[in-house]
Amino acid sequence: MRLISAAVATLALTVGAQVATAAPVELKFSHVVAENTPKGQMATKFRDLVAERLGGKVEVKVYPNSQLFGDNKVLEAMLLGDVQMAAPSLSKFNKYTTALQIFDLPFLFKDMAAVEKFQQGPAGQKLLGSLEKKGLVGLGYLHNGMKQLSASDPLRVPADAAGKKFRIMASDVLSAQFEALDAVPLKKPFSEVFTLLQTRAIDGQENTWSNIYSKKFFEVQPFITESNHGVLDYLVVTSKEFWMGLDDSTRTELKKALDEAIAYGNKVAGDKAEEDKKAIAESGRSEVLSLTDAERQQWVEAMKPVWKQFEGEIGADLIEAAVQSNN
Ligand code: SIN
Repeated sequence: MRLISAAVATLALTVGAQVATAAPVELKFSHVVAENTPKGQMATKFRDLVAERLGGKVEVKVYPNSQLFGDNKVLEAMLLGDVQMAAPSLSKFNKYTTALQIFDLPFLFKDMAAVEKFQQGPAGQKLLGSLEKKGLVGLGYLHNGMKQLSASDPLRVPADAAGKKFRIMASDVLSAQFEALDAVPLKKPFSEVFTLLQTRAIDGQENTWSNIYSKKFFEVQPFITESNHGVLDYLVVTSKEFWMGLDDSTRTELKKALDEAIAYGNKVAGDKAEEDKKAIAESGRSEVLSLTDAERQQWVEAMKPVWKQFEGEIGADLIEAAVQSNN
């Protein structure tokens, strides 16, 4: 009898020790931008909220600045289980779905309020599931902002871009957008853009104020045209395997923390678009060019034929839903 009690006690101690030392689930969050950007700050906020609420159960580790994976590799790595969360720009899912190409259509959304309305409406919410067949789960949209054109020469009208090389994200719509200007689009990872611009291997690029500022593109691009011609937003993604492998309450808590972190990131995005534009204008390194209505109309006319080119892949109904979000 004494022997049995001793064995039970030993077993209880062993199990207790195992429970006490169970390692937290590691959640690696990889991204390519600086920590002081909307995405960088959202990721940090998420890490902190999870530490506060799920400390000991889940540990979020954030890897900024393409430290862990660049945007051309992160989704493959996620499917292999090497990273659990990322928020690539919506333009970087081209290999996985054509549905998200809607966000790349030039001059589709008049401002970020229209983008938000579309994303939160039924069509935008349905798109969150567009990666499911590929084993990825869209957890939510995050804003960065409207894109501007930067270049080594002033770009006032579309003819100024003709023959020039522009770095683009890996999106066929963006490729078509620059081809419509008779320019040369080059798909390159974000981590290479500064050097390509600095060495004049390319003439220009398109990006948001916060990316142009935080990655110092403005120091090597003497002209930035305030074109607001497209949107650069993100999709926070995880793999189905990781997400469904969590217990229900952990998954619910993580989603809650993520939603709060996204709301925070969206606020940062709004503030930074203003602040970083101002900082660039005041730096004296780059001239910010405003377009007249007539000049802007020329860009619209040059780029908008791209819509028709991709209507078959994206769907006329979806494009119409996005157009309606401008009202
Ligand atoms: C990002 O904001 O994540 C990068 C955007 C880019 O590749 O230009």
